[in-house]
Amino acid sequence: MSTHDDVIVQHLIDPELCIRCNTCEETCPSNAISNDLRNYVVDVDICNGCQACVSPCPTGAINSWRPVLRQSAYTREQQFAWSALPEAPSDPALDAVPPGRGRGDGSVVVENRFTPARPALARVVENRCVTPRADAAVHHIVLDVSNDDFPFLEGQSVGVLARGVDAQGARHAMRLYSVACSRDGEEGVAGRLALTVKRVIENRGGEEARGICSNYLCDLTPGDAVELAGPYGADFLMPDDTTAPLIMICTGTGVAPMRAMLDRSRALPAPRAPQQLFYGGRTPQEMAYFDALQAAYGATCDIGFALSRQAGESKRYVQDLLRERHDVLAQLLARENTHVYLCGLRGMEAGVFEALAQVCERHGLNWQALEAAMTQQRRLHVETY
Ligand code: A2P
Repeated sequence: MSTHDDVIVQHLIDPELCIRCNTCEETCPSNAISNDLRNYVVDVDICNGCQACVSPCPTGAINSWRPVLRQSAYTREQQFAWSALPEAPSDPALDAVPPGRGRGDGSVVVENRFTPARPALARVVENRCVTPRADAAVHHIVLDVSNDDFPFLEGQSVGVLARGVDAQGARHAMRLYSVACSRDGEEGVAGRLALTVKRVIENRGGEEARGICSNYLCDLTPGDAVELAGPYGADFLMPDDTTAPLIMICTGTGVAPMRAMLDRSRALPAPRAPQQLFYGGRTPQEMAYFDALQAAYGATCDIGFALSRQAGESKRYVQDLLRERHDVLAQLLARENTHVYLCGLRGMEAGVFEALAQVCERHGLNWQALEAAMTQQRRLHVETY
């Protein structure tokens, strides 16, 4: 029998949830993560459990922890061979160790209830284009997920499993989409989940290349069945504290989780603390919910748009809008319970953080210290791709 000292909580990556986006390998400060083009794995001899990789992971695959006997820790080679996490080893010494780690604040968030191997079955209720320009189509898709009791929160994502197989005969890879409505359901109907999906059609060297999952979703009609995995993620959630101001910054379909949060806030019995939305896109014709946002949430949120390709106007990015609205932004950043959400293009991160630093400097705040405190207090939420 082993003593408790022989037990470690080994950091693993769930191959069933991992979408091989490489974010963890890029993020890990100690180079403990590697891949063999099939699986991403954590080297138990190098990983120091700092968890820097946990919140950037879009699926939560990285947030897998197993108590194991030190001498039987899974090697990299073993992990490379996995298609799923193995059954937890049975040893009485392991019983005292909790099987998972995660948010650390004691709250319970349902994650990973359904997997690609055991998906939930949803039905399409509605599928409509929410951008006036057809060649930049973004669809608002409402699914009925009540049959399989698929729970979701604003800020979580769901995995969509497109029908069909790829050229090698393997099932298409799962794709993640942010929940775009309140946990109470689209239009307040329980069990109705909304997604915001951009139909991806690219020109690759003169050839038209269509995104498999986005086109699958945008072509669905009411009544169609869709397989879902998840829900995923616990790092982009709304604070329970309704006095906490929300600063939401997004580009493109990064607006989806912001819509979900606005939807949730609007339904609260008492008004929520100030909410600011900074939304960047090309033109109003190419931006999902452009008019609908103001109509639905304008009373509870201050909404600003930054247009990058509007004819006759100079290019504006969301970070330009942040600089323009420095007064209100600084006031909110100075409050000790403000949450900042950033969702959309990964490329905007640097510009947005630079703008926040400039706003802080202008108002006598120290962004570096603020960013560190917000990160530590889980008030800074970043989901970029
Ligand atoms: P651009 O016109 O330069 O492409 P979409 O998803 O519809 O493409 O919208 C993304 C929006 O984000 C566009 O307005 C795009 O502008 C803008 N964008 C591109 N790069 C950055 C960046 N580095 N920082 C902020 N916004 C960006």
